[in-house]
Amino acid sequence: MQIDDWSRQVATDQSADRSAHSKVMTFQKVMTFQLEKNETDPKAEVYAQLAAQLRSLIEGERDFIANAANFASLLYHSLFAVNWAGFYLLKEGELVLGPFQGLPACLRIAIGKGVCGTAAEQRQTILVDNVHEFPGHIACDSASNSEIVVPLIANEKLIGVLDLDSPLFARFDDEDARGLNELAEIFVQGSSDLK
Ligand code: SME
Repeated sequence: MQIDDWSRQVATDQSADRSAHSKVMTFQKVMTFQLEKNETDPKAEVYAQLAAQLRSLIEGERDFIANAANFASLLYHSLFAVNWAGFYLLKEGELVLGPFQGLPACLRIAIGKGVCGTAAEQRQTILVDNVHEFPGHIACDSASNSEIVVPLIANEKLIGVLDLDSPLFARFDDEDARGLNELAEIFVQGSSDLK
């Protein structure tokens, strides 16, 4: 992982003096991640590294959508055998699709419906080894066979859920639940728009 590199950019300001372009030096923070999907890496190590990467990604940025988008991308590109990673956000009493990576998904889910709506209603992480056996499961990608949904709670209020799908059966276990809950907490704490 290589993060917090600083790169120097030289831009040419052509609006000033066309005969003698003024050079404007700007410094831009560039984060470079080398994301790997290695099935054999111990999950505790994977989630410890993801926690460090997520902290770095959201540091200095409080905008919820921006942080959620980068968080979804980080998960999708880092975790082994994940075909969908993203958010459903609580809006006017139902879950509405938020930032995600993966195939286009259903837009709205009622509280109590599907895996997402159930996790939201119960405010509990739901692990589903075989989505085809989950009553009321909402299929967005026919490749999905297992799923985990983590509720997002800020100041004791439900604000949405984090949802991950896998083409593998029983892809997610208690270690994933622990790791993803820790990541969700880092995300919520780091995005003050939510509070
Ligand atoms: N399977 C979810 C719907 C969302 S997609 O998986 C992206 C559910 O049953 O709530």
